[in-house]
Amino acid sequence: MTKKVFIRTFGCQMNQADTEIIASVLQDEGYVMTDSEDSADLVILNTCAVRENAVEKIMNILNNLKGRRRVRPDVLVGIIGCVPQYYREKMFGMSDGIDFLAGPDTYRQLPVLIENAEQGIRGANLAFTPEETYNGIEPVRTGTIGAFVPVMRGCNNRCAFCVVPFTRGKERSRPMKSVLDDVRRLAASGYKEITLLGQNVNSYFDDEAGCGFPELLDRVGLAAEGMRIRFTTSHPKDISEPLVHVIAEHENICNSIHLPAQSGSTKMLKLMNRGHSREGYLEKVAMIRRCIPGAAVSTDLIAGFCGETEEDHLATLSMMEEVRFDYAYMFCYSVRPGTYAAQHLPDDVPEEVKKRRLDEIITLQNRISGELHAAEVGNVVAVLAESESKRSNDMLMGRTDTNRVVVFDRNDCKPGDMVKVCVGAATSATLIGSPVY
Ligand code: SAM
Ligand code: SF4
Ligand code: F3S
Repeated sequence: MTKKVFIRTFGCQMNQADTEIIASVLQDEGYVMTDSEDSADLVILNTCAVRENAVEKIMNILNNLKGRRRVRPDVLVGIIGCVPQYYREKMFGMSDGIDFLAGPDTYRQLPVLIENAEQGIRGANLAFTPEETYNGIEPVRTGTIGAFVPVMRGCNNRCAFCVVPFTRGKERSRPMKSVLDDVRRLAASGYKEITLLGQNVNSYFDDEAGCGFPELLDRVGLAAEGMRIRFTTSHPKDISEPLVHVIAEHENICNSIHLPAQSGSTKMLKLMNRGHSREGYLEKVAMIRRCIPGAAVSTDLIAGFCGETEEDHLATLSMMEEVRFDYAYMFCYSVRPGTYAAQHLPDDVPEEVKKRRLDEIITLQNRISGELHAAEVGNVVAVLAESESKRSNDMLMGRTDTNRVVVFDRNDCKPGDMVKVCVGAATSATLIGSPVY
């Protein structure tokens, strides 16, 4: 009988792409993917450790699974990804509901862990394999319109707050040829959008081909004519003018750059070990907008990092006013044991101050996004339709090249279509409109 696996994915797009690789490894072992946790023979949680409460989240899910395991003791549960890589074997001591642990570099060996677990042997594979890029594994795609294409893994930076270098290990890149093969395959299968992924895509380098990220992006642009191309994430210290020129030269590469700033205060950026200053960041944004007029710039911001004063916080707000980000992911700082900050910098901003500063950041971003969206009313924008809108079957949801979310009358359009939409109304999160013919 075929066995069913349910994989729940947390965290970033890298983790989502990994889930598609894991599905492929398990498919070769005879498993089929299921969307129903209740019918699964194997439940896998692909986890994220970037902020605190990662473990609590998993323990809650394991507690909920306990009832099911009483009825079906043969159901196996694996915890994989960044949380076990970070907390290692001590996770076994946190719950007896865990059958195996696997880190992000060990997914090819999942069948061994599962086989052992079937025989009642609890096992962990948390090795770092510095050359592992999962090259040669054809992912089981979950989407039909957009697809992720990981180009590099790991991170050699050491931002003081961040666990990723501990969970994902050293940077390594996939060969350009195999990335291009993936892209051509996706184009031939009718995909409309690809997102090249890496923790720091600007560090991509194929040693054999002598090719860095700008050249890779250029080649992908040529190989994927008619498809939209996105990429994430760019580090502000590494994004270069040649890369921005490649974006400007290709119609199919989206004019949208995610450039995490974290803070608008140079003092904070130094404490964070980000390798860029406020001024350096603003220069990069100016360079992007000079080369690509109308380019969308989005960001990540952290409120209340160690030593942040009111003045530093105001510097973040003023940077936001200056840049006018299209959108932002905004977080309160949370201490991650083992990081430089946890070891050397006191977490001295009181929780209520962090929350108040985060609220101010979110309120300001909502205002700016609202204003940028309001300015689109009356414009006709090109939208790649992705799915039905959550609110109504009569509406579709899609995105512009600049990553704005658009909800529009369905008429005779379907997901996958490129639709010209006249924007009739806007909120800070969404543009609303109708197709024009
Ligand atoms: N590689 C990307 C970069 O350099 O910006 C970011 C990757 S990280 C997984 C995504 C975001 O999580 C970061 O940009 C940061 O804003 C946030 N983050 C990471 N560690 C955090 C922490 N300890 N507390 C709060 N937010 C954090
Ligand atoms: Fe984390 Fe910094 Fe690496 Fe991004 S660049 S993954 S924030 S260490
Ligand atoms: Fe989280 Fe790991 Fe991604 S810590 S953000 S899932 S790299």
